[in-house]
Amino acid sequence: MQNQESERLYERARNVIPGGIPGIRAPENFVRGVYPILLAEGRGGRIQDVDGNEFVDLLLGYGPIILGHGESAVDRAAHERAQQGFCMNLPSPLIIELAERLAALLPSAEQSLFFKTGSDATSAAIRIARAHTGRDLVLRCGYHGWHDWCLEADPGVPRRARQEVWSFAYNDTTQLEDLLKRHAGSVAAIIVTPIGHEFDRQIDEPLPDFLPSVRALADEHDVVLIFDEVRSGFRVHLGGAQALYGVQPDLTALGKAMANGYPVTAVTGRRSVMMSATRTFMSSTYFPSSMEMAAALATLKVLEEESVVDVLANRGGKLRAELAAIIDETALPATLSPYPSMPFLYFDPELASGQAARRDRFYGNLAEAGVFAHPRHHGFLCQRHDDRDLEQVLDAVRRVARHK
Ligand SMILES: Cc1ncc(COP(=O)(O)O)c(C=O)c1O
Repeated sequence: MQNQESERLYERARNVIPGGIPGIRAPENFVRGVYPILLAEGRGGRIQDVDGNEFVDLLLGYGPIILGHGESAVDRAAHERAQQGFCMNLPSPLIIELAERLAALLPSAEQSLFFKTGSDATSAAIRIARAHTGRDLVLRCGYHGWHDWCLEADPGVPRRARQEVWSFAYNDTTQLEDLLKRHAGSVAAIIVTPIGHEFDRQIDEPLPDFLPSVRALADEHDVVLIFDEVRSGFRVHLGGAQALYGVQPDLTALGKAMANGYPVTAVTGRRSVMMSATRTFMSSTYFPSSMEMAAALATLKVLEEESVVDVLANRGGKLRAELAAIIDETALPATLSPYPSMPFLYFDPELASGQAARRDRFYGNLAEAGVFAHPRHHGFLCQRHDDRDLEQVLDAVRRVARHK
């Protein structure tokens, strides 16, 4: 695999962008020297890098691309809206249409507000919960974005910001209960990803009583319950993980798959809690932009018309069964994600020694075989992956799994 153009551009980037490629997309987060550093284009379920190497895309922009790259119905809707003017003084009626669509899809979505990023949405949900309860403390579980309140210990984040936020472990209701007791009367919100999908961990399903217990504890302590469905929304069920597991939060943060890559996110929830948003301030020049809302409405239409959640679950189920057989045959020390539309071959450090090196060889070889998957982050499937794409993935995994 040739990477000269990637490396050449990376050199240029380092001169004008701190670190060259910032954040989780930095080359060190993949397998340095093997993965491309910059991508040129995407079509359907495939991407091409700046050197002309082609890959089946199993990362899909970290989740937003649920239909496929360059999905014409979505791009057309966005383009038409852009040509009519999309960044204007007042919102367009599409904002009402989109809020109504969410109300029809998610059982808890009586009212909605729209934002640009997932971090906006989770931070806005926290702001609404604090305004609603008049309290400050937040109990959190999962990744909720890059804003001060939910970062661990990075330079640049004031210690004070973290003093208002306590973390609890996924599926650990005892820890949550202890925190609620210890801070009784001070907790505004519990925010949790209903599916456990931390970076560099295998995905966890909720234990049968986890989400109902979190709901019951929130009620008992009169705390706003927020589900962070930025990743699970529209992917595990059209109504989100809350519909899949039958537990209703008070507020939900949505993003990613809602608009097939266009930047629009939402906080949605019970009217009685959402109305507290009118007593605080959340605003951006770009929040009402209608181009992304047109893209969201077009995406939701395709999701419904093509039963995308079911298609991905079926296709992912077959892929998962084949991957399980390969793991058995080759004794590959990896585990599989329980969610078929979010595939992940995870090299668990507890399964074998030298796992990090083995994982990097495996994923590096996979990239050489034309499959772009993240070594430490679960993957995604999209509607436009076809049989040829998935056959290529299986052939590559079959070959690569045998290399020790
Ligand atoms: C569960 C969850 N919440 C929030 C976020 C933050 O979203 P964004 O990166 O769009 O700010 C992410 C992003 O990966 C996420 O997975």
